[in-house]
Amino acid sequence: MTFEVVRADDPRCAVLEADGYTVVGESWAARLRDPDRAMLEQAGRRAEGVVVRELGVESAAAVLEVETANEPDYPYTPATHRVVGSLETIRELWTAGRVFGAFDGGRLVAVTHIRLDGETEFTSVLDGYRGRGVGQAVKAASILALLEQGVRVFGTGGAAVNDASLGANLALGYVVEERWRSYAPPEG
Ligand SMILES: CC(C)(COP(=O)(O)OP(=O)(O)OC[C@H]1O[C@@H](n2cnc3c(N)ncnc32)[C@H](O)[C@@H]1OP(=O)(O)O)[C@@H](O)C(=O)NCCC(=O)NCCS
Repeated sequence: MTFEVVRADDPRCAVLEADGYTVVGESWAARLRDPDRAMLEQAGRRAEGVVVRELGVESAAAVLEVETANEPDYPYTPATHRVVGSLETIRELWTAGRVFGAFDGGRLVAVTHIRLDGETEFTSVLDGYRGRGVGQAVKAASILALLEQGVRVFGTGGAAVNDASLGANLALGYVVEERWRSYAPPEG
């Protein structure tokens, strides 16, 4: 099925709805402009019991393990779904950007991937470690690293139903700037 992904303030929404298209998913895009370093450093320290650091490609197998475990937990919308893929796909993350993670002892429990232009591609935290600042901590580390490289505007996005993702991003200072709707065509 071909979905139409349209900004919620686009007049095309009314046209599609009049033509019988139905909304099958909602998503948002948020930006963080000129972030507050001190706040990010605090977010990086807040998650107790884990150590946050940048990952090299030698961690690809561990990243694959975390992402495969979390894949079913990424809420699906036509605009935001995540397909983890193979070890080769994971290794390509290092070509496209930088990867940060959180460890509990020797176990990788959270991962975030950020492109060199400041756009976060995904963040995930293992079930059992969620809701205690770990997602914010890995993301804060990635933003701080790119701030060092001169990036000043950071982007991210997610499904409207993903309260934890939205909450984590708002806590880091991201502002939702766009809302999107995914439309499915009328049946028949
Ligand atoms: C989204 C995800 C990465 C968030 O990581 P996390 O470590 O749980 O998030 P944090 O604890 O750092 O922050 C969550 C914030 O959202 C708030 N929140 C709001 N609704 C929430 C909910 N239903 N569940 C958890 N947190 C919620 C929390 O209070 C917290 O804000 P606070 O620090 O101001 O109190 C994690 O839930 C996850 O891995 N989900 C599955 C994969 C996914 O959906 N990834 C996002 C798409 S890229």
